[in-house]
Amino acid sequence: MAKKAVTSEILNIEPIDLTYLNYTGITEECLAGKTAVVTGGASNVGLGYARALAWCGANVVVADMNEKAGNETQRVINEENGRDCCLFVPINITQQADIDRLKDQAFAKFGKVDILLNNAMNMRLNGPVLGSKVEDLEASFQISGKGVMMCIQAFVPGMIERGYGVVTYSATQFHYCPPMVGGTIYTAGKAAATSLVMSLANEVKGKGVNVFCLTPAGVGRMDFSKMPAPPAKEGMPKFDPKMFWMPGFFGMIPPEAGGAAMVYSILHADQLHGSGIIISDAFTAMKFDYPNKETAPKGGNGGHRLTDMELTMAFCTMGPGYTGFGK
Ligand SMILES: NC(=O)c1ccc[n+]([C@@H]2O[C@H](COP(=O)([O-])OP(=O)(O)OC[C@H]3O[C@@H](n4cnc5c(N)ncnc54)[C@H](O)[C@@H]3O)[C@@H](O)[C@H]2O)c1
Repeated sequence: MAKKAVTSEILNIEPIDLTYLNYTGITEECLAGKTAVVTGGASNVGLGYARALAWCGANVVVADMNEKAGNETQRVINEENGRDCCLFVPINITQQADIDRLKDQAFAKFGKVDILLNNAMNMRLNGPVLGSKVEDLEASFQISGKGVMMCIQAFVPGMIERGYGVVTYSATQFHYCPPMVGGTIYTAGKAAATSLVMSLANEVKGKGVNVFCLTPAGVGRMDFSKMPAPPAKEGMPKFDPKMFWMPGFFGMIPPEAGGAAMVYSILHADQLHGSGIIISDAFTAMKFDYPNKETAPKGGNGGHRLTDMELTMAFCTMGPGYTGFGK
């Protein structure tokens, strides 16, 4: 089916570009016949994943609480691929009834779910241990612990029955434990889900289901110059837009490229089972030259791709939750 370049006034996207999706093993058919659920798939990282998976032939179920962006995501992906391959299901991932409905609608439309991308999170849930509300920590665990566990319980038994499945999580810390200045509430939730997902890897070993974490550090499309200062928060560094012009942030990774790294990781899920990969490692494996000379913005450090540690430290210094990427 012919692919089409689609734009959207609602979603902050660029048309899918083969620069990102032209790597060994990544083809328009490499995920044909597979169905994926992407939680938080209506913006930024998750949207990049959903679009890349559909481009590679998969059906995608986008599960998100943002109805406007979710409906637009369904329209864009279906139009982009010229087929009825995307279903948006509005859910609050913290509610069991919503997960049950997600499962029912996904199976009614596509008959099965082979790939589960746990990606939803509220990036604004952050703050230091001293000075944050216990309710914020609870909310972080509700999305990132409870929500991930309910999705796993909904979809993994069917994968085991069919002898094939891939489960992944958009982790923040895997092989590093960054200081995450003031971001404790966020990272505590992320750590809970990472732990659940890695435990699942042990439980399903040898059953055809491969489980890994992928840290999409630095993925997003943001115009820092237009970023409004967030309200001052105790324990958070004082906001200074200039700090975002640090070398390297010129090289922010577009969500479409993040999607390519996810497809590549899914295709090699058996090699990643029980482990985690940071996105720059995935690019190295793909021999992905980002930013390349043609696309790199001028200035700064000349647009070199950040090292793992630079990416992690940049993200930690910035902390999550200032605006939410892509908004
Ligand atoms: N962008 C990065 O640099 C980065 C780095 C490391 C980890 N991550 C992780 O990647 C994931 C995506 O990050 P992002 O930057 O795209 O975030 P984002 O805030 O742009 O997107 C998160 C999505 O999740 C949805 N969501 C939030 N709460 C929900 C709920 N209760 N039920 C259903 N949907 C809900 C939102 O509507 C949104 O569409 C997150 O889990 C984040 O922690 C991102």
